[in-house]
Amino acid sequence: MTADTLQIDIQQTTTSRLQQVDFSNLVFGRDISDHMYIAEYRDGQWQNMRIVPYGDLALSPATAALHYGQAIFEGMKAYKNDSGEVLLFRAIDNWKRLNKSAERMCMPTIPEEVFMNGLTELIKLDAGWVPNTPGCSLYIRPYMFATDPYIGVKPSESYYFIIFTSPVGTYYAKPPRVKIETRYIRAAEGGVGGTKCAGNYGGSLYPAKLAQQEGYDQLIWTDAREHAYIEESGTMNIMFMMDGKLVTPAVSETTLDGITRRSIIAVAKHWGIEVEERRVTVKEVVEALKNGTLESAFGAGTAVVISPFATIAYEGVDYALPEVTDESFVTKVKNFVTDIRVGNTPDIFGWTLKV
Ligand code: COI
Repeated sequence: MTADTLQIDIQQTTTSRLQQVDFSNLVFGRDISDHMYIAEYRDGQWQNMRIVPYGDLALSPATAALHYGQAIFEGMKAYKNDSGEVLLFRAIDNWKRLNKSAERMCMPTIPEEVFMNGLTELIKLDAGWVPNTPGCSLYIRPYMFATDPYIGVKPSESYYFIIFTSPVGTYYAKPPRVKIETRYIRAAEGGVGGTKCAGNYGGSLYPAKLAQQEGYDQLIWTDAREHAYIEESGTMNIMFMMDGKLVTPAVSETTLDGITRRSIIAVAKHWGIEVEERRVTVKEVVEALKNGTLESAFGAGTAVVISPFATIAYEGVDYALPEVTDESFVTKVKNFVTDIRVGNTPDIFGWTLKV
């Protein structure tokens, strides 16, 4: 199968919901665009690629993914430039990461053309759903799950790969207050923390709920052995500006290889800023909070983009972070990456794709 021969059947909706969307008040995850792309894996190959009106799926109650969590996903975004053209940000990197997740979860990988052709056709069809207001974008959710109607525990032989999209505004209404977690964990060595699989998110809900009951917005996850090393925050990678250096936990079996994270590192290096990807101790971060050498701490992810924290709590003490200004690294890097995404500055890294 080549890009030229890939057949995608397109069934367009006759009742678009676009006019019902309040683009001046977009809430993350609420509105879903008109169409979705579906590819099915059966008999050892991807087949029946189609774009259809967004709607419910008919699934057997025995569907394997619902029981054993063989389910992986990606998050990516599309933007509009000043001429109204749609730009996808780092889509190829999402395709590659989805396939890495697939391997870890014993799922079939997806050929580039099955992912990219379906994606671009879908985005072309629903281009009207891509917001053009600052801070807004079209969130794209590609995901794959096991569909065998079989209740024994084994890798499924059939899968759905689906992409749907949603126009979104900002994820956090204000800078999050986060707490360093020292009881629950997100990931352990040898596990699936570095994989974008559904269970990582389901397992994080309870500790996050407890933190929210204490008045925090999110957690900072620490390592499973000692709770001595910082790993991630909520659903984001975590980064620190300390002593003029960008410091971030190295990607490992327990931390996700975030594409926003990678983008920030590339920009920092391009600007001549020293970057340290290494183990980051809770102790050094708490010391830096206490003695005021922590310029900023922020989450990085597709959904949140770049989100500076207001406070970090550790052992019952809330430490406030310095105010973020226009001159802060976190502001400048967010603006620069956003400018690339919306085509306001030359794409020197080759990250965008016009559809
Ligand atoms: C993303 O940043 O796209 C994510 O995957 C987080 C999501 C669970 C909201």
